[in-house]
Amino acid sequence: MCGIVGYTGKRPAVPILLEGMRRLEYRGYDSAGIVIYENGGLTLKKKAGMLSVLEETINGSNFTANAGIGHTRWATHGAPTDDNAHPHIDCSGRIAVVHNGIIENYIKLRQWLKAEGHIFQSDTDTEVLPHLIEQFYRGDLQAALLKTMEMISGSYAILAVCHDEPGRIVVARQDSPMVLGLGEGENFIASDIPALLPHTRNTYLLDDGELADVTPGGITVCDKKGVCVNKEVFYVNWEAEQAEKSGYEHFMLKEIHEQPTALRETLRGRISEDGQSVVLNELDIDPAYIKGLRKVFITACGTAYHAGVVGKYVIEKLARIPVEVDIASEFRYRDPIIGPGDLVIVVSQSGETADTRAALREARQRGARVVAITNVVGSSVAREADDVIYTWAGPEIAVASTKAYVTQLTVFYLLAVWLAEQRGTLLVREQEAILDSLKKLPRHIETLLAQSDRIAQLADRYKESHCMFFLGRGLDYAVAMEGSLKLKEISYIHAEAYAAGELKHGTLALVVEGVPVIALATQPELFEKTVSNIKEVKARGAEVIGVAIEGFMEIEEVADQVFYLPATHPALAPILSVVPLQLFAYFAAVARECSVDKPRNLAKSVTVE
Ligand code: M6R
Repeated sequence: MCGIVGYTGKRPAVPILLEGMRRLEYRGYDSAGIVIYENGGLTLKKKAGMLSVLEETINGSNFTANAGIGHTRWATHGAPTDDNAHPHIDCSGRIAVVHNGIIENYIKLRQWLKAEGHIFQSDTDTEVLPHLIEQFYRGDLQAALLKTMEMISGSYAILAVCHDEPGRIVVARQDSPMVLGLGEGENFIASDIPALLPHTRNTYLLDDGELADVTPGGITVCDKKGVCVNKEVFYVNWEAEQAEKSGYEHFMLKEIHEQPTALRETLRGRISEDGQSVVLNELDIDPAYIKGLRKVFITACGTAYHAGVVGKYVIEKLARIPVEVDIASEFRYRDPIIGPGDLVIVVSQSGETADTRAALREARQRGARVVAITNVVGSSVAREADDVIYTWAGPEIAVASTKAYVTQLTVFYLLAVWLAEQRGTLLVREQEAILDSLKKLPRHIETLLAQSDRIAQLADRYKESHCMFFLGRGLDYAVAMEGSLKLKEISYIHAEAYAAGELKHGTLALVVEGVPVIALATQPELFEKTVSNIKEVKARGAEVIGVAIEGFMEIEEVADQVFYLPATHPALAPILSVVPLQLFAYFAAVARECSVDKPRNLAKSVTVE
């Protein structure tokens, strides 16, 4: 999820590259770099920090280059340092590459390349690319990149340049966006449209498996076999602000729609090829420690805490270990009974939340092993924890967390199966069924997103409500908490989540004629009980929107509206059931003309206690 730009033409390349990188920086980045064809060779400049740090470094240099590539990095493999910043170069300094995405098999490739004599300078997965191109280079950069593509697996958008072919930029794409901008006597490349808008609105959208050869005189596109592809010009009619959001009205909506991709990235390489096991190579925990685990603690704030509540259910169910889940600001002051033999899981999208960091330190001081689940490489929790599992959701900009949540849930499922596998608590058949269902979730989310209009209508209908309830049992209760938080934080409608069976112990007094209730009933063994609870609120005049798995049609007898989810393993239902709740909150906020991406009184990262 980094930013890529490229330029080749007659104008000075550096200002064009920097302007393009600035236009991608709205997503937040941690390092930046460029490579230009200067004075008959390649000149490389890269720095950790915001783009301004790079700009200060090159300030005053009178570069005359007319071609080059640039990159703003959002760290995945390797901390945000000068060495890990892109571009990366080969041993000879004649080939340079920038890359978005993840090269899954980089460890094997790195070992092989080292054995072939290549010397590495960074901790990144990307650095295998210039060395592979160097290995295969026989005077034609595109041919070497084609050969490289045969060797790598994973997701990528790649730009490569070679000292021996001035003005030529070769491009490859697989599962990571790449746009080519068409100019007159000059051409542009970017990972996102905003970077192209000052120069051109005529573009080619590169498809998966395609390569492009870009020179000032033209662009040719071919497939992996080298066969030419005729591309249609895509005219961009978005304004700059719209383009930053890929045409969506708000970052939150864009991020909701990015969930299928984010989930695929989270899963990538973490399920074995035979579909039977979870691969979490990032966990370096002694199997004896896992077998002898006394207890698991999960601690986090806000949405990450809600992901932890789901985590508790699934770890207990699958791995049969007792799990406590705490809000981090409570955990740190409650003198928890915790020590060696315990596992503490801290969850934080940003990795910088003050209370979560403090909880992490508390746990480590008491001798527990700490695993962090976070989205930001090199963040404080990633550095301070014993082990880190990254969610790979890409930058999340809207204050209301959406894609971070579903990827945190995904990590919890992987971790629960991994723990179960080590402890021998799950039948192979059951394990395979869960992993198989996990792989299908991105498609299911796409199906749900296609029904946005219906949710928008429902949200519009209830937009004047003063209070709403979210009900559910078990995993549905955990998701109800998240649905209610989403609605509160962006639409400012008061909402409460309740364990459906608990309502009658007091809160039912608030349910009167016309109060909207969203009732989640996705768990087969709890379905009938939840239907009874729906009857209780219906009898008091509530208007009920039911959320159930397709096929559970009895819910239509008690709910006013029903939203069906594609059939999945019941344990995984939260990843699907949260999607209509996110959309409902979003459309309610839009209908109430609220500031969706930056709700009042809130900040994206809460770094104070
Ligand atoms: O960066 P973190 O995941 O640690 O943030 C935790 C909460 O502040 C965050 O999830 C917050 O609740 C979101 N605004 C919810 O949408």
